[in-house]
Amino acid sequence: MTYDDRLIVALDFPTQAAAEHIVEELGENVSYYKVGMELYYAAGAPMLHYLKSKNKKVFLDLKLQDIPNTVAHSLAVLTELGADMMNVHAVGGRKMMEEAVKTVHAKAQELGRPAPKLIAVTILTSMDEGQWRDLHYSKSISEEVVELAKLAKASGMDGVVASPQEAGAIRKACGDDFLIVTPGVRSAGSAINDQSRVATPLGAFKNGSTHIVVGRPITQAENKIAAAHSIVAEIRGIAHE
Ligand code: C5P
Repeated sequence: MTYDDRLIVALDFPTQAAAEHIVEELGENVSYYKVGMELYYAAGAPMLHYLKSKNKKVFLDLKLQDIPNTVAHSLAVLTELGADMMNVHAVGGRKMMEEAVKTVHAKAQELGRPAPKLIAVTILTSMDEGQWRDLHYSKSISEEVVELAKLAKASGMDGVVASPQEAGAIRKACGDDFLIVTPGVRSAGSAINDQSRVATPLGAFKNGSTHIVVGRPITQAENKIAAAHSIVAEIRGIAHE
């Protein structure tokens, strides 16, 4: 079985060596990797250069949020590293997202490359009702998630990161041409680790996700290739191609 770009494997490791070990082991079976804050802060640009040298796609999950100028120029630098997808917090606001889109597109054009996809984090899924009350927003979490997804779309973003539970409402509100990247995915019967609102790979796509992010069920599996294959087989079993 060959790779499938809809599966993004999270490289949540504190060193480049540990991440490379997994990438070598998975070989041609995985084409898309997520580099988050831990690995990027530890390994930096060489990690991306390594993944690109292996012809892998990279979702650089650094969740930027700052004033529009700072975010836009930081994303321009990251675009030079060759990331295929990057993200910001939607609560940074419309101007921050619009400037991000404009600057990243201009930088990609200057480099003669396709622009990386830009997606927005709406409300972190770690937010529970108690913490939400502390923030004094007027809407419920699920309503605010959809409002922020709509704002991201209106600001020119390509999509959002969303839990499986949120994907359906976002798909309905934002239409078909919008990426929904979903972590918290677990095959039936596997360990859920510290995730709480999980869905199966199939369930995530049925809810409207376009990509799933899977970490430990693959990276900590005894047979990592078999774990990746079974997830790809599951998502290929559905019509949403
Ligand atoms: O190992 P596991 O499959 O739980 O990894 C999921 C990945 O997705 C981790 O990198 C985690 O930080 C990330 N993530 C998440 N939930 C979110 C956003 C990101 O689990 N809401």
